[in-house]
Amino acid sequence: MHQDLAKILITEEEIQAAAKRLAEQIDRDYAGEDIIFVGLLKGSVQFMADLMKHINSMCTVDFMCVSSYGNHTKSTGRVNIIKDLSEPIDDKNVIIVEDIIDSGNTLSFITKYFAAKNAKSVRICTLLNKPSRREVEIDVDYVGFEVPDEFVVGYGLDYREYYRNLPYIGVLKPEIYE
Ligand code: IMP
Ligand code: MG
Repeated sequence: MHQDLAKILITEEEIQAAAKRLAEQIDRDYAGEDIIFVGLLKGSVQFMADLMKHINSMCTVDFMCVSSYGNHTKSTGRVNIIKDLSEPIDDKNVIIVEDIIDSGNTLSFITKYFAAKNAKSVRICTLLNKPSRREVEIDVDYVGFEVPDEFVVGYGLDYREYYRNLPYIGVLKPEIYE
């Protein structure tokens, strides 16, 4: 385990099993339809890579980068587009791939943005969900794990851009961010 972590919350094996389970669920739900997966940078990179390996449906992949957090552990509520979609999504089945839903501000903004671009359907697939911290209501269709109100890192999730490389999810020692 990395020396800055207090504990491992979700192991590599548990994450891999969840990625496979969610991909199978998506394949069943979209039976025969094309899907465009839109990953939110940078946190979704590891999850997107593992999820898409198990998808059998015809699909394409795109990425967006938005900021709502800065280098803090609390949401600012403001969302800025840093990198937009590179393909049109009108009349497409979009699945947003996210690392974690916390306040819900990011996903609330993006689902409205995609609806305004006339997507055929928009669903959300998140590895982690922190429902206790929600500020805006969000319909989440696919969830890997519900997590408690602790700041977690690893498997794409960062603290000040670090720890994204870890293959598991862990809780940072409080002295790292206090
Ligand atoms: P929301 O807009 O508050 O739902 O924030 C979602 C974004 O905040 C995620 O994509 C993460 O980048 C970041 N975030 C929220 N909670 C955590 C956490 O526990 N660890 C690392 N990043 C987090
Ligand atoms: Mg982040």
